[in-house]
Amino acid sequence: MFEQLPAIAPDPILGLSAAFKQDTNPSKIDLGVGVYKDENGNTPILKAVAEAQSRLLASETSKVYITPQGVQGFIDGMLGLILGQQSSVIKDGRVAAVQAPGGCGALRILAELLKRTNADTKVWVSDPTWANHIPLIGNAGLELATYPYFDKAQASIKFDEMMACINTEVKAGDVVLLHGCCHNPTGADLTKEQWHVVKDAALKIGFIPFIDVAYQGFGVGLEEDAYGIRLIAENVPECLIAASCSKNFGLYRERVGLAAIISSNSETKQIVQSQIQSVARGIYSMPPSYGGALVDIILADTSLNQLWQSEVTEMRERMIQLRALLVDNLAKQNASKDFSFVNDQKGMFSYLCISPEQVQKLRKENSVYFVDSSRVNIAGINHNNVETLAAAIAGVL
Ligand SMILES: Cc1ncc(COP(=O)(O)O)c(C=O)c1O
Repeated sequence: MFEQLPAIAPDPILGLSAAFKQDTNPSKIDLGVGVYKDENGNTPILKAVAEAQSRLLASETSKVYITPQGVQGFIDGMLGLILGQQSSVIKDGRVAAVQAPGGCGALRILAELLKRTNADTKVWVSDPTWANHIPLIGNAGLELATYPYFDKAQASIKFDEMMACINTEVKAGDVVLLHGCCHNPTGADLTKEQWHVVKDAALKIGFIPFIDVAYQGFGVGLEEDAYGIRLIAENVPECLIAASCSKNFGLYRERVGLAAIISSNSETKQIVQSQIQSVARGIYSMPPSYGGALVDIILADTSLNQLWQSEVTEMRERMIQLRALLVDNLAKQNASKDFSFVNDQKGMFSYLCISPEQVQKLRKENSVYFVDSSRVNIAGINHNNVETLAAAIAGVL
């Protein structure tokens, strides 16, 4: 019976990794898939994670099932990290949450919850957004629409157009997906003032903000990167949050994330908590415990927490330096385009704002790999490859 199924083309980003592996050019450069890399191109286990692993190994006595909501210490620790230790919504008992298998798992179960709540829910995503938002939310059966976000010609957010769309087309009960920080793919984040405008629009129109936060700590700092999420959570009666520990804890393959829902009161929270656990139970029963247990150990222990924060700072500062290094090298190569906007972008990604043809030429002629949209993984740059990279980019302009 399965012969009637059509074969599906590989995911563009994963396909790119496969093509990179096959390329025999010794100077090839991989700026595709979004994982942090150090100066040697490795993605090592964070020291805080390694220490938490030793402690967990020494203390774990059973592999018996955990509950559908996951490791409670992980949930509490993550809510404090994202919403702030002083969060009134936590104190008021308005936050329902479950540990999820990665940020992807969190996005999907929140989409399933929306579907259960109202099958006609329309979810607005930024144009562009992370490509996987579309299947993760769309495959739950929800209608998707886009709001304007990024102007490639100006290399900046088109905030007036974004708000004009939200103010005229988004209806009460619609859901608007926002990137908490380090927008993927553009690296262009809303300013504090712009977050206030979005918050006011949510209150006026009655749309539900759905915030995806996959890079907390990679933009400006762990606290600073949560500004928009906290503003929305403290002021808008209902919102959804999907968080990932893949990047800032380097726990990619352990699949650890958090799905949280803020309800307008603590009674509704109880209902939502039962619903989200039932959604999880119906898909994968309970999340893998391991990654959540590690994050719990790290966040609960003062010295491990400090070590982890210093490692996040190190990753962030390295990426900020790499941005400057790339911009300087492009200027040295007399690139015919001003790339200084790269320094203003945040997090792991940058949109170089060059054409798909130029990106393909770079791949074919220079063995430089990144997606056609011109999104590059900044962490894939290092002091050894930056000059070659800048010369190649300047060459295709
Ligand atoms: C914007 C965004 N959201 C969510 C995720 C999900 O991450 P994961 O499922 O690996 O935790 C990613 C990963 O690349 C992402 O870029």
